[in-house]
Amino acid sequence: MSHESKSGSGCTSGVQQAVSQRHSVRAFTEQGVPHSTLQRIFTAAAQAPSGGNLQPWQTYVLTGDDLATFLQRVAASIEQQPMGEDGAYDIYPHPLIEPYRSRRAECGDDLYKALGIEREDKFGRITQVMKNFEFFGAPVGVFFAIDKSMGRPQWAHLGMYIQTVMLLAIEEGLASCPQEAWSMRHQTVREHLGMPDDLELYCGLALGYEDVEHPINQFRTTRVPINDNVTFRGF
Ligand SMILES: Cc1cc2nc3c(=O)[nH]c(=O)nc-3n(C[C@H](O)[C@H](O)[C@H](O)COP(=O)(O)O)c2cc1C
Repeated sequence: MSHESKSGSGCTSGVQQAVSQRHSVRAFTEQGVPHSTLQRIFTAAAQAPSGGNLQPWQTYVLTGDDLATFLQRVAASIEQQPMGEDGAYDIYPHPLIEPYRSRRAECGDDLYKALGIEREDKFGRITQVMKNFEFFGAPVGVFFAIDKSMGRPQWAHLGMYIQTVMLLAIEEGLASCPQEAWSMRHQTVREHLGMPDDLELYCGLALGYEDVEHPINQFRTTRVPINDNVTFRGF
């Protein structure tokens, strides 16, 4: 299966521009994000749709001392349980079937290539993966949770909300990286946030200003041609 189209297609305005500009950013400048900017993003994101208007999301936004303390707790957890905390959901199905397996491999290979990390360099790859647990140096870390009673429809609505947040961030000149990796540290996240037992952590989001010079931010993922996954009928 060919992976032809590169994201970032040269659109010029509005939603199209935000959609094409957004990419996962994994290195940030040290510049903090004003509270007012975050207020604007999360106020506007509340307009995201959800079936029955359930708005089934709970969001936590961390910065400053709170984020620093949290990251220290995470570092301690990594020392104690390097392989991840018990009870995390499976990030991918087992087995991951084709063509998804190849897409995942391509994305990983391109990321490590951008950093000059060889395929055999397991230590180099793991070191990069562990940067997830520093929010890739972002000044703001966000967590998205959902009530455990919610089903697949509501999880989809949560996803729409997260994408809305990411696009609004673009409009504010910010960049982000959604992170399911945080599910592997869900206990530490829960303890730090005092997250109620009836909530389940879905993912994190690194948020801040892109370090545009950093090699990891130079590569772009590809997309399959829409003929592979969009069916037009009756035209
Ligand atoms: C919900 C979600 C969780 C993700 N989790 C991670 C993660 O834990 N770590 C990471 O580096 N990238 C993560 N990604 C980023 C994907 O790898 C990325 O979106 C995909 O390769 C497409 O690239 P793009 O975002 O640059 O367009 C995640 C993306 C989504 C939507």
